[in-house]
Amino acid sequence: MSEDLSPVIRLEPVTADNWRQCAALRVRPEQSDFAMPVTYYLCLCAYGTTWQPLAITRDDKVVGFVMWGVDDDRSRWIGGFVVDADAQRGGVGRAALRQLLDRFAAEPDCPNVALSYPPENTAARALYASLGFVETGETEDDGAELVARWTPAR
Ligand SMILES: CC(C)(COP(=O)(O)OP(=O)(O)OC[C@H]1O[C@@H](n2cnc3c(N)ncnc32)[C@H](O)[C@@H]1OP(=O)(O)O)[C@@H](O)C(=O)NCCC(=O)NCCS
Repeated sequence: MSEDLSPVIRLEPVTADNWRQCAALRVRPEQSDFAMPVTYYLCLCAYGTTWQPLAITRDDKVVGFVMWGVDDDRSRWIGGFVVDADAQRGGVGRAALRQLLDRFAAEPDCPNVALSYPPENTAARALYASLGFVETGETEDDGAELVARWTPAR
């Protein structure tokens, strides 16, 4: 019987053991306008009251980061989504987002999942659209970012 050699993508808690690997994640130079350094996101999670951090691992190695929060209307927000430059285009981002959406969909009080991005971020925009996110006409960051939402099937 052939062995399944496809990589295992997981969402893991950020801990004393892996936060340095999260902090070391880097995007491609041309993507630097689309994400803050992960250290900034880790501080938002540590010192703010909104965001919860997750490490994205591939075969137990940290290759990405994402954080999530719950809005007043119970919609879940996704932010700080980064896949390390060396690990991009391998399906990590799509697999991680699918897992996060499955997790939220299993929570009965979750009306939808929201995120935002500048329209120039065509890679992220295409990924979100392919997963079923729909642009709502809402904006964030003084109009610089488009909001898209995904609604779980009930
Ligand atoms: C957006 C990002 C997280 C995607 O991660 P990834 O692991 O490379 O994504 P995947 O390999 O799962 O690709 C999923 C889809 O995204 C799109 N995509 C990803 N990278 C792309 C690129 N360089 N150019 C065009 N489309 C791209 C494609 O639609 C792709 O689907 P396909 O492989 O079937 O064509 C990653 O590019 C990244 O970290 N970018 C910098 C930070 C950022 O923009 N974060 C989002 C903020 S809103």
